[in-house]
Amino acid sequence: MGGSLRKASLNRRLLGHLVRLLEGRGHGVIALEGEALRLPLYDADLAVPDSAKPLHDSMAWAEGLVLVSPEYNAGIPPHLKNAVDWVSTLKPNPWPNLPVLLCSASPGALGGARAAITWRSTLANLGAIALPANLAIPHANTNLAEDGTPTDPRSQAALQSALDAFLDLAAKLGTHSHS
Ligand SMILES: Cc1cc2nc3c(=O)[nH]c(=O)nc-3n(C[C@H](O)[C@H](O)[C@H](O)COP(=O)(O)O)c2cc1C
Repeated sequence: MGGSLRKASLNRRLLGHLVRLLEGRGHGVIALEGEALRLPLYDADLAVPDSAKPLHDSMAWAEGLVLVSPEYNAGIPPHLKNAVDWVSTLKPNPWPNLPVLLCSASPGALGGARAAITWRSTLANLGAIALPANLAIPHANTNLAEDGTPTDPRSQAALQSALDAFLDLAAKLGTHSHS
């Protein structure tokens, strides 16, 4: 899941590339991005919106989550946090022991890596298992091809090793148990 709401989102481009790589390795993937993650602002007085269900349903069978998040003001975008908050209220709870690969892309030199710092505290609170290393693509306005492939060899190598570590952890944990 991830990307921003704007059409030309660099993070959505990166997400697309990761989806193709995972599918190429034989994994079933559901990509939820952009408008699919534009949920009403969380309000406990509202009924759970139908738009929260595709994410919750996908996570019911998922053996791992790749979260591709922009960085806004050294933090995380509100629409993604909002979607996570909605899903955290639903049963079965899909978060405990879920392996999560944190990814980001930014035109900046840090590649949006500070978003991952904030995501870690939220994911820890949910009982998910974030990989120790996150993937950050710096200078993404020039370092991501149209199809989301990094053009810089260092970013390409970082991407492959992040995916390897993620798949390795997911395989070790097996199908995680939902509470
Ligand atoms: C409100 C706002 C705050 C931002 N803050 C940061 C930041 O702290 N660090 C950073 O690297 N980029 C920051 N950016 C730039 C985004 O990384 C950039 O717009 C990026 O392309 C957003 O992701 P997207 O391409 O997926 O929409 C910010 C952008 C916005 C709109």
